Amino acid sequence: MKVCVLGATGATGQWVTKMLLDKGYEVTVYVRNPKKITLTHSALHIVHGELTDKARLVKVFLNQDAVMSCLGSSTMKKSNQLETMAIAIGSAMKASGVERILYMATAGIEDEFTGIFKIFIRMILGNVIDDHRKAAQYYQSNGFVYTILRPLQLKDGEPNGSYQEALVGLPKSRKAVSRSNVAKLMIKALEDERYLNTSVSVSE
Ligand SMILES: NC(=O)c1ccc[n+]([C@@H]2O[C@H](COP(=O)([O-])OP(=O)(O)OC[C@H]3O[C@@H](n4cnc5c(N)ncnc54)[C@H](OP(=O)(O)O)[C@@H]3O)[C@@H](O)[C@H]2O)c1
Repeated sequence: MKVCVLGATGATGQWVTKMLLDKGYEVTVYVRNPKKITLTHSALHIVHGELTDKARLVKVFLNQDAVMSCLGSSTMKKSNQLETMAIAIGSAMKASGVERILYMATAGIEDEFTGIFKIFIRMILGNVIDDHRKAAQYYQSNGFVYTILRPLQLKDGEPNGSYQEALVGLPKSRKAVSRSNVAKLMIKALEDERYLNTSVSVSE
């Protein structure tokens, strides 16, 4: 199976790339900073390019079975960076015939938090949450076969598989989750058809 990872130079994207390769996938990473990829593997293809280069992106997506996005944005201010990237990616997916997208967003995009916690989270992360929501909604409403990941706060750590998930709302624990466990769940969602067209929150 061939998978294209976007955001592969990031903290979660590196885990996703490594775990896919360990499981025998053929992985293409499309990155703007190829020097940041330190991993070498015979099944890893590194393509240098910008997400704004549609022709290049279409070429990269041709014959891929799925796209996995762990992209982030560069600002906490009001922005449509994530939505703009989603539209560019989605449009190249349409042009190359790829339907399956796994999109790492954030908890909060479905208004899952309540009370004082919601006010606190929105004060700090409201703009990023709103941008992720628009990106997720783009994939959800334009004919893609999607899985949206909604992790709570991220932390570093090894993938121990000890996480909780919730398809509606938030998991009970509401604790920070390691990026490696998010990566593990993303790959589980890639392989398990029960995650098709779902939006799953994850915490530890
Ligand atoms: N921090 C938290 O507690 C938290 C909680 C829930 C969800 N999230 C979300 O989880 C996602 C992944 O987090 P992370 O910590 O793994 O991210 P990260 O380490 O910051 O990685 C972000 C990735 O996005 C890429 N990127 C950003 N803007 C780009 C652009 N314009 N064109 C191409 N690539 C671009 C970066 O590429 P370069 O290496 O080239 O810069 C990098 O590969 C983010 O969307 C974040 O909002 C975060």
